[in-house]
Amino acid sequence: MNRTRTVTRERWIFKSVPRTWRSRRLGADDRDLIEAFFVGMSRTTAREYFLGGVRPGRRHFAWIDELEGDDRIAVGAFDTHTGVLFGLAQCARDPGDPTLAEVAIAVTDTWQRRGLGTRLAGELARFAGSGGITSLSGTTFADNAGVRRLANKVGRPRFRHVGAGLVVVEFGAT
Ligand SMILES: CC(C)(COP(=O)(O)OP(=O)(O)OC[C@H]1O[C@@H](n2cnc3c(N)ncnc32)[C@H](O)[C@@H]1OP(=O)(O)O)[C@@H](O)C(=O)NCCC(=O)NCCS
Repeated sequence: MNRTRTVTRERWIFKSVPRTWRSRRLGADDRDLIEAFFVGMSRTTAREYFLGGVRPGRRHFAWIDELEGDDRIAVGAFDTHTGVLFGLAQCARDPGDPTLAEVAIAVTDTWQRRGLGTRLAGELARFAGSGGITSLSGTTFADNAGVRRLANKVGRPRFRHVGAGLVVVEFGAT
């Protein structure tokens, strides 16, 4: 009896609070949301994003001001109900070659494997392409299966081993 009630209540909660999301380009005004996203990241996701055991802090957030210009682009995914940012893809134009940009992407653990990373990477590639960037690259651990699969869905990636267990993934901006 109790079990039935619990299940019914969970269904009711799920139905009334669907886990939906929306995405949009981020600007420097989104600093608080972006910082909260990084500070709330799990250790595993932070390690994969920063390529090491990093605790995200002030020095990792300087780039947010660069979102005012054309050389840094970020796209975020938000929980429709809470407004919380739970996924982010960003790229920075190469100062030596304006057609290249370095990309990084992360999705909060509970939202991973629902297609968000693919969607954010695709949107970022479109914004980058319209800004004159033709090629995106990102560095990841060689055993990061999620990034490999995501890259294969977004474009036709090239994988280049660069040592120390790292791989550079390159794909075209659309
Ligand atoms: C990599 C990452 C951004 C993918 O985001 P996501 O929202 O889970 O991606 P998607 O749901 O769009 O999945 C894309 C593909 O990767 C697969 N995938 C995702 N995570 C995976 C994992 N841990 N292991 C194996 N495959 C995985 C998905 O199944 C999907 O493939 P499929 O459609 O063929 O099944 C996310 O796992 C993450 O934030 N990781 C930590 C940070 C990181 O590694 N960033 C990259 C370095 S900058």
